[in-house]
Amino acid sequence: MNYRIEPDIKKAETLPAEFYRNEKVFERLKERVFGGCWHWLGDESICPIGVGASSLKLLEGFLDEPLLVTRNEQDEINVLSNICTHRAFMILQGTSHSKQLICGYHGRRFDLNGRFKHMPEFGEAEDFPRACDHLPSFDLEQIGSFLFTSLDPLFDLKPTLDEIEKRIGFLPLDEFGRRDDLSKDYLVNAHWALYCDNYLEGFHIPFVHADLNAVLDYGSYETICYDHMNLQIGYSSGGEEVFDLPHDHMDYGKEVAAYYFWIFPNLMLNFYPWGLSVNVVKPINMDKTKVSFITYVYDESKLHSGAGALLDKVEREDEFVVEGVHLGLKSKHYRTGRFSPTREQGVHHFHSLLAKYVSS
Ligand code: FES
Ligand SMILES: [Fe+2]
Repeated sequence: MNYRIEPDIKKAETLPAEFYRNEKVFERLKERVFGGCWHWLGDESICPIGVGASSLKLLEGFLDEPLLVTRNEQDEINVLSNICTHRAFMILQGTSHSKQLICGYHGRRFDLNGRFKHMPEFGEAEDFPRACDHLPSFDLEQIGSFLFTSLDPLFDLKPTLDEIEKRIGFLPLDEFGRRDDLSKDYLVNAHWALYCDNYLEGFHIPFVHADLNAVLDYGSYETICYDHMNLQIGYSSGGEEVFDLPHDHMDYGKEVAAYYFWIFPNLMLNFYPWGLSVNVVKPINMDKTKVSFITYVYDESKLHSGAGALLDKVEREDEFVVEGVHLGLKSKHYRTGRFSPTREQGVHHFHSLLAKYVSS
């Protein structure tokens, strides 16, 4: 399997149509990219209050990796495997407030850091316990109260979060409240990477999103690429809600309506003057994707104006074009396309990373 994207966007071609239709590519993306990328876990409220553990499945219906998020007596959060190291029973379903994890099959016990503690009837077992009898524990990163984990990190998330912090660190992230009434899942009939392709360019805004285009200044829309992250900045066309940036902010004096952060490959953190819309793109199969919109509000008064209003309408407009492209890529007469050097830097960045990780 070999894909290459020319680093010079002026000469580069997009990933070929075949990339989105190839079952082996889809599986390889699942294993390499999703097996190693950083995943959104949620905010700290997913951990029990006080000590204990909560179970979750990472990318349910796709990776289906059973995890535990624990909080120990030192108030530290850990992400552990929820699979018992004896004979692979799932240790916990739901939430527990116990200081230990006890497997319901044969009683193996672990502490909230995943350390093996005790196992009945193993007194005569030799060379036991070994390091592999502890529960595997996974990397955890945090910004505000938002938690991210990776099963086998492809890259270091810390510098990415530092870049994000430089732009939005002035916002009181701890005051962002999750709003389930404003959160929603969308089912999109398209390959997951096509949803991301579309997200990664503002090029289509004047053509596809008339309402959004009216509040954004298309001319100054900007894309900045980092290592495994990129940022699109939407500026207000005037009179709309913008961030109240502090004097020492790198964008001070600019009318910023939205910061759209994308973390490779499937995670979007969209900051608006009212709060945050997290989008997690969850593959189901090659033709179906679930996109979860998770909403955090901190200034309710700004909720219904500016670039962050009408998210539902914008989403449906995006689905229309993404599903259209998904069908278009099945044509025998389309092989590959080119990038706009001024408007599609984000898509070029994404394709370059996909090609790198999927190639043998
Ligand atoms: S599978 Fe957990 S104790 Fe046997
Ligand atoms: Fe869009």
